[in-house]
Amino acid sequence: MFTQFFNLKFNPFTKEIPVDKLFLSNNLEELTSRLMYLQRARGIGLIIGEAGTGKTTALRQYAQSLNPALFQSFYFPLATVTVQEFYRGLALELGEEPKHKKVDLFRQIQSAIGSMYYERRVTPVIILDEIHMASNKLLEDLRIIFNFNMDSENPFILILAGQPLIRSKLALNVNNPLRQRIVVKHMMSNMQKDELGGYLKTRLAFGGTHEELFTAPSMEAIYGVTNGVPRLVNSLATNCLLYACEKKQRQVDEETVYQAQSELNF
Ligand SMILES: Nc1ncnc2c1ncn2[C@@H]1O[C@H](COP(=O)(O)OP(=O)(O)O)[C@@H](O)[C@H]1O
Ligand SMILES: [Mg+2]
Repeated sequence: MFTQFFNLKFNPFTKEIPVDKLFLSNNLEELTSRLMYLQRARGIGLIIGEAGTGKTTALRQYAQSLNPALFQSFYFPLATVTVQEFYRGLALELGEEPKHKKVDLFRQIQSAIGSMYYERRVTPVIILDEIHMASNKLLEDLRIIFNFNMDSENPFILILAGQPLIRSKLALNVNNPLRQRIVVKHMMSNMQKDELGGYLKTRLAFGGTHEELFTAPSMEAIYGVTNGVPRLVNSLATNCLLYACEKKQRQVDEETVYQAQSELNF
């Protein structure tokens, strides 16, 4: 196994990475400051980014950074949760026994959010990931559920995160009211070229080595192939380590990157 060959404790490019081990890209820092603003302003935030750019990871970091005495986070990935499960799940997590009729369920959710904020002084932070999978109906429902006191107050934070398709959905006239209530918006960008070295270094350190396992030309090649999308970098870098190990090379060179790439379909 390549981990042993490179003195690694495990594959440093695995999906799961603790939030305190993340690479702080410019983009992540920008997003964090926007979320800090949203934390004070409350209301709706929108995060848009292509697959693999780090949206879910950033949200995980944000949710874990919240002071539990003041905030409670609720996470729903729409890719795996149906709309009905979302409403019911939200009601349940807010401590309610979900009602059957939708109108009642919505009222129940609203009142639970209201009492969490006004009585317990805890702001609910509701995260809807993969929001590009939402139907217009759901988007409209969100506007209804998250409409408090004729919109004069925001006793909640709602974060919508998803792929760029959501932009065209929100652009539809029927979604004007929801779109107009978005307080902060952030576009996830890919890592810049000069960030890739730092990213690889952070991930390698996470796996337990401070050795420079990638040559400068190999990093150029990795950037060329992946455009700085973290998920793609992870797959390619893993394959590079496999190939280098097979060839008993202590470092990944440019040729190894192209060999490793040929196996992946990007
Ligand atoms: N800031 C970061 N530091 C380290 N790894 C990251 C970072 N952002 C993303 N990743 C890695 O990239 C992978 C893809 O990120 P993810 O958040 O799932 O993307 P998205 O939700 O946009 O599709 C994650 O599994 C994680 O390992
Ligand atoms: Mg995601």
